[in-house]
Amino acid sequence: MIEAAKDVLRGNDMGDFTKPGPNQYPHQWNWDSALIALGLSFFDIPRALLEMRSLLNGQWLNGMLPHVVYHGHETDYFPNPGFWKIETSRYAPSIHTSGITQPPLLAIILRKIHETFNIPDFVREAFPQLMSWHRWLHDDRDADNSGLVCIVHPWESGTDDSPRWLEILGGIDPSGLEAFARGDTHYVDVDERPYPHDYQRFIYLIDLFRRSAYDQGTIIADSPFLVQDVLFNAILYRADKDLQALGDVIGEDTSVIEGWIRRMEAGFNRRFWDDDAGLYYDFDVRHQRKIQISTGITFLPLFAGLTSPEQAERLIHEHYQHPKHYAVDNQVKYHLTSASKDLQGWDPRRYWRGPVWILLNWLVYHGLLDYGYTREAAGLCADSLALMSKSGFREYYDPRDGTGCGSERFSWSAALAIDWLS
Ligand code: DGY
Repeated sequence: MIEAAKDVLRGNDMGDFTKPGPNQYPHQWNWDSALIALGLSFFDIPRALLEMRSLLNGQWLNGMLPHVVYHGHETDYFPNPGFWKIETSRYAPSIHTSGITQPPLLAIILRKIHETFNIPDFVREAFPQLMSWHRWLHDDRDADNSGLVCIVHPWESGTDDSPRWLEILGGIDPSGLEAFARGDTHYVDVDERPYPHDYQRFIYLIDLFRRSAYDQGTIIADSPFLVQDVLFNAILYRADKDLQALGDVIGEDTSVIEGWIRRMEAGFNRRFWDDDAGLYYDFDVRHQRKIQISTGITFLPLFAGLTSPEQAERLIHEHYQHPKHYAVDNQVKYHLTSASKDLQGWDPRRYWRGPVWILLNWLVYHGLLDYGYTREAAGLCADSLALMSKSGFREYYDPRDGTGCGSERFSWSAALAIDWLS
């Protein structure tokens, strides 16, 4: 299985970056790339460092690390580099990138690679760029001075069409948007991709941002989508801690990072924990309301170490193991469905509406282990490996029968299989 996984990473290798999927995702994606570097590190350290370096080459002058770096390759992917018009921003880099960011996994992954393979020189090289990305997030994306950061586009959550975003998207009027042609349904069945209604609003938001020249103050003031996402904040908190540890390795002053960590600790549970439901809910900053939708993201504070043992117990007993919500049963044979089974509109084959994702399983697996749920963790690892050996390294899987969906030969599934099996 490790050889088959390496073969996927080699097949998607473009020389200085790795495509998440051969046809569906032909450029370099931010959080995919971090996970790909982790997979590569087990058999080719120089190539793993190059992967991270190529991603960091797309960094904006204000520190933002964009969600896609195009590296000048011509493809049929939409939105193409020209669509973003990033040159309207005085902070845009000289290479083509998107104009939004993605969950900041890179510091977490770099620490993992360093702890296994001891790469202090690369830590020294990457640290200032990671610092400036995290600083940008804490400075430019803290819309309400709470210490928590906002995302302004569903693509920044990495869980594009998650049921968490539907109400906000439904309230956006996209009229005036010029016609465009989707590129994401050429290689993947339309029933496994976001609905046209949602996709149109994804593009509407990009159009809004490019018209404001990616000025973050304007975007925070104007974007109809302005959300404190549990996933993004949990990942950032953990990434800040790992960045601090990396700073200590190379003798940097990390007191600024300490400040970010303390503020997030003070605000996280107050904002996201719902004691009635026993769940973490995202917060819609624009409309000042909780987003009361249960998805697999509610387990991410376990990965971050942000939940108390009592809260963890409620998450596991009342939700993860509950027959109505996330438990496996006669119908759903594999953990972890990306949305609660009893959610209206649960769709086990459509993108983030229900399928199992290997990354979500891997993050929750580590959280379960950290909190002592070893049996559940072992089950989640076993389910993930079973899905990949049954149906190959797919982008996501139908939790009922384990058949694959989305892109074939998906890089992060392969990379995380290598991590698990190594
Ligand atoms: C896509 O192209 O659908 C991606 O998820 C956006 O990053």
